Amino acid sequence: MSAPLLDVRHLSRRFDVSKPWLNRVIERIPRVHVRAVDDVSFEIAKGETFALVGESGSGKSTIARLIVGLLKPSDGEIIFDGKSLARGLKGAEARRLRRRFQMIFQDPFASLNPRWRVTEIVAEPLKVFNTHKSDRERRKRVGELLSLVGLSPEDGAKFPHQFSGGQRQRVAIARALAANPEFIVCDEPTSALDVSVQAQILNLMKDLQAEFGLTYVFISHNLSVVRHMANRIGVLYLGRLVEVAPSHDLFARPQHPYTRMLLDAVPDVEMTGRRRKKVEGEIPSPLNPPSGCAFNPRCPFANERCRIEVPALKPWRGQPVACHGIEEGRIPDGPAQPIASVTAP
Ligand SMILES: Nc1ncnc2c1ncn2[C@@H]1O[C@H](COP(=O)(O)OP(=O)(O)OP(=O)(O)O)[C@@H](O)[C@H]1O
Ligand SMILES: [Mg+2]
Repeated sequence: MSAPLLDVRHLSRRFDVSKPWLNRVIERIPRVHVRAVDDVSFEIAKGETFALVGESGSGKSTIARLIVGLLKPSDGEIIFDGKSLARGLKGAEARRLRRRFQMIFQDPFASLNPRWRVTEIVAEPLKVFNTHKSDRERRKRVGELLSLVGLSPEDGAKFPHQFSGGQRQRVAIARALAANPEFIVCDEPTSALDVSVQAQILNLMKDLQAEFGLTYVFISHNLSVVRHMANRIGVLYLGRLVEVAPSHDLFARPQHPYTRMLLDAVPDVEMTGRRRKKVEGEIPSPLNPPSGCAFNPRCPFANERCRIEVPALKPWRGQPVACHGIEEGRIPDGPAQPIASVTAP
C-alpha cells in the first residue's frame, strides 16, 4: 500500500465519569474513567472506504469525533496525509488541513440548524473557509451542490423541517461537500432512514465517491450496509479492534468469534433457509470491562488465558485478528458459504 491518507496509531480516549468531588470525598469513592477507545490502530488508503462496525457503546462515534478533531485523544496519534493532527497545528495550517475532511452525522435534523434556510446551511463552510467570496458566487455554488445531491437549487429557500429524512441527509451531504473535502467521516449516515431511502443515500454516496475520488470512514452497526459500502472493515468490541479484513474476506471467512457472532445474526434476506442465530449475551459495561479479552464472557471458545491476558491485534493469514484462540489454532474455521449470500438492503 502507498502512504496511507489516514494513519491512526494506538489511539485511546478515556472519559472521566466520576461523581463530583464532594461526593467522592464523602462517599470515599475513587475517580472513574471509561475507556471508550483503547489502543486502536488502522490505516486508510486514498479512495478507499473503511468501515467501523460494532454494537452500541463500542466506541464508533468516539473514533469519528477524534478523527475530525471534535475530541482530543488521551493517547496515540492521528496522521492525515503525513501530518499529525493532534500536535502543534494552529491557525492557517490547521484550517487548511481541516478543510480537507468533513463529517456526516446520523441524525441530519440535529446536525442542521433549524432556523437557517438550506442555502445558508450549505454556504456556511464556503464562508468559513473563504473559498467563495461574494454572495453571488456562494449562491451559485450552493445551487450546484444541491443539484449534485439530487435536490433542486430552489430547495435552498426552504428550512430543514420542510424536507423528509432522506432529503435532509442530502442537504447534510451537500454541506459536507461544499468545501471540496477529500475525506469524509460518516457516522451512521443512514441508520435513521427507511430501508428504501437508505439505499438511495448509500448509492448517492458511492456515486459522489467515484466522481470526486473521496475517501470514507463509514460507521455502522449494520453489517449488511457496511458490506455494500466498504473495501475494508474493522470490527470494534468495547473500544478495541478485534479484527480488520477486506470486506469480502470478512464475510467469507470471519475469524474472530465476535465477528462470527455478528455475521450469524445478519438477516437472511435471500431466504436461503440458513439458520439465524441471535447475538448472545450483552455487551459488558465499559465502566467495568471484563479482564483479559473483553469478549471472553460471551465467547464459546474462551479459556483461562482469555480471562487473564488481553489479546493484541496480530496478523493471521495476512489479516489482523486479536484472539488467543485463533493464534493457538484452538478455534476451527467458521462457516463460509451461507454468510456470503447476504445482500445489502
Ligand atoms: N462525552 C462522554 N462522556 C462520558 N462517556 C462517554 C462520552 N462519549 C462517549 N462515552 C462513552 O464511551 C463509550 C463509547 O461511546 P460511543 O458513543 O463512541 O459508542 P458508539 O459505538 O458510537 O455507540 P452507538 O452505536 O450507540 O452510537 C460508551 O460507553 C459511552 O457511554
Ligand atoms: Mg455512535
